[in-house]
Amino acid sequence: MPEPPTLGRATLTVEMVIRLCAEADLPALEWMGLFSPHRAVIRDAFEAQQRGDGLMLLALTAGFPVGQVWIDLARKRGEGTAVLWAVRTFPPLQGAGIGRHLMTAAERILRERGIHRAELGVERANEGARRFYERLGWREAGTLRETFRFTDPEGRILEEPLDQWRMVKDLDG
Ligand SMILES: CC(C)(COP(=O)(O)OP(=O)(O)OC[C@H]1O[C@@H](n2cnc3c(N)ncnc32)[C@H](O)[C@@H]1OP(=O)(O)O)[C@@H](O)C(=O)NCCC(=O)NCCS
Repeated sequence: MPEPPTLGRATLTVEMVIRLCAEADLPALEWMGLFSPHRAVIRDAFEAQQRGDGLMLLALTAGFPVGQVWIDLARKRGEGTAVLWAVRTFPPLQGAGIGRHLMTAAERILRERGIHRAELGVERANEGARRFYERLGWREAGTLRETFRFTDPEGRILEEPLDQWRMVKDLDG
C-alpha cells in the first residue's frame, strides 16, 4: 500500500527541561503502557533516589518525560563508580538529541558530586546505542552477562537475559 500523500509539514520548537524525578512523574514513566510491566522497577528506582542511592534524571517536554537516564549510586560506590541504566528516549522522539542532552547532564551531575567514573551496559546487538555512547566518549571495557529479574503488576516474576558490552567513561577525561 503506498503511503498517503503529505498534507502539511512543519518544524516545531519545543522546550525541554531536565530535572530529577518526582513521585508524581512515576505513572508517566510507564510511557502509556510500554513500560507498565516495569511498574515495580520504576518505584524501586524512585525509592533508591529518596534514600540517596540513586538518581532518576528525566527530560520533560510539556511535563511529559520524553527521556530518562537512571543512575545507581550504590552498586559500585566502593569503587567510586556510578552505574547508568534505563537510558531511553520516547520512541517517536529518538534521534532528536534528547539522549545526548541527558547524558551530558548526568555526567555533569556526577562530577559535581565528586564521582569521576561511570559505567553502563549496552546490549551487544544494539549497535546504534553503542555508537551513541562512543560518540559521547565512552569506551568498551569487556562484556557483561546477567539476568534482569523483576515482578510485573500481575505478580509474575519475569527474567530478561542480558548480553551486553560494558562501557566505561572517565568523567574527568
Ligand atoms: C539510544 C538512545 C537512548 C539515544 O537517545 P536519542 O535521544 O535517540 O539520542 P540522540 O538523538 O542524542 O543521538 C542519536 C543517536 O542515538 C542512536 N540511536 C538513535 N535511535 C536509536 C534507536 N532506536 N536505538 C538505538 N540507538 C539509537 C544512534 O547512534 C543515533 O545516532 P545516528 O543518528 O548517527 O545513528 C535512544 O535512541 C533510545 O532510547 N533507544 C532505544 C533504547 C535503547 O537502546 N537504549 C539504550 C540502552 S543501553
